[in-house]
Amino acid sequence: MAYLNRNPSDVALPVRIGLIGSGWMGAFHAESIARRVPGAVLAAIADPNLESAEALAGALGTTKVTADAADLLADPEIDAVVIASPARFHSALISQAAAAGKHVFCEKPAGLGLEELDAALAAVEAAGVHFQIGFNRRYAADFQAAKKDLAAGIAGEPQLLRSLTRDPGSGSIGHAARIPAWTIFLETLIHDFDTLNWFNEGAEPVEVYAVADALVEPGLRDQGFLDTAVVTIRYSNGAIAVAEANFSALYGYDIRGEVFGSRGMVQAGRATETAARRYTAEGMSADTPRLNVELFRQAYTDELVDFADAVRARRDGRSDDTAPASKPFTLTPGANDARRALAMALACIESVKQGTPVAVNERAVL
Ligand SMILES: NC(=O)c1ccc[n+]([C@@H]2O[C@H](COP(=O)([O-])OP(=O)(O)OC[C@H]3O[C@@H](n4cnc5c(N)ncnc54)[C@H](O)[C@@H]3O)[C@@H](O)[C@H]2O)c1
Repeated sequence: MAYLNRNPSDVALPVRIGLIGSGWMGAFHAESIARRVPGAVLAAIADPNLESAEALAGALGTTKVTADAADLLADPEIDAVVIASPARFHSALISQAAAAGKHVFCEKPAGLGLEELDAALAAVEAAGVHFQIGFNRRYAADFQAAKKDLAAGIAGEPQLLRSLTRDPGSGSIGHAARIPAWTIFLETLIHDFDTLNWFNEGAEPVEVYAVADALVEPGLRDQGFLDTAVVTIRYSNGAIAVAEANFSALYGYDIRGEVFGSRGMVQAGRATETAARRYTAEGMSADTPRLNVELFRQAYTDELVDFADAVRARRDGRSDDTAPASKPFTLTPGANDARRALAMALACIESVKQGTPVAVNERAVL
């Protein structure tokens, strides 16, 4: 038996993705691309910390490694990039990637100010490349089930919405000094803002009022560190939302969303790691999710499957007829979603500074 003589043009080419930033999130995305995203390959890794990039490349069988993202952007064998560097580099990297004709998946936030983000999104528009932002909660099965119900009108007109993030912790935050200012809004609650916007689709966030403090690490309050926050949001359809976050839940990683409306209520969020329960003389107990990469393992994978599908569709000259269009609700988070959520985070920062409610979109630059 000999090999069949296949016509190369009948063989689907993989989507070749370059990773920019090989830290905590980048490493997980790299593993997803290499092992769990059909039809995608991890073609190269760029990170100024070459040791980190080389270790990851070695583990995943990637041969191209560089300290400079420019090398990866100049590589004609790369179709698309996943940006998982620290947030302060995101807008510039999006602009450079778009100018190089690469499709872009960027971790949140897509920028730290609306001016830099607008410049990056203009570059995306001008280049005609696909852009996706890493709002992974949209890809979690329970959040999608809730969204499907909301799209079908199960909750009626939204009146109250709620979204919360409680990051896992030990009761103190050892690396607090390395956490950039305003992270709780720009990198944590920005997920909740997107969930609320997605759940309240068609309405615009009009005003935010944010209250925040250092309750886990009160010793850092004077330096402006914030680990706990509550935000109320008024939407253009009259709905009122609450988003809250804390950096140290002793019981693990706790993410929830809820819409209460004129006809009922829809909830998302998984309280236990599995459906297993322990019943003993002390009562009932269950394991709780501990890490983001455990709770959202499938969601982090599926957002990249969606990305690879969209890139493949564009590369092959098809309209993107895969995941998003086959769903009875909007899914893929793009440029407008990235901008709207960032505008809310920036308005929250202003609200904390002023101690008053602040209109969303008033403030363009951090
Ligand atoms: N979606 C989520 O749930 C989620 C979870 C965690 C982090 N994130 C986001 O992912 C991004 C990275 O966070 P992290 O926790 O992985 O940080 P990290 O510090 O673990 O990793 C960042 C990596 O980027 C590298 N880097 C620094 N400058 C770079 C540059 N100019 N070009 C390329 N690489 C550069 C660093 O050397 C490091 O390896 C952040 O925007 C963060 O908000 C998202």
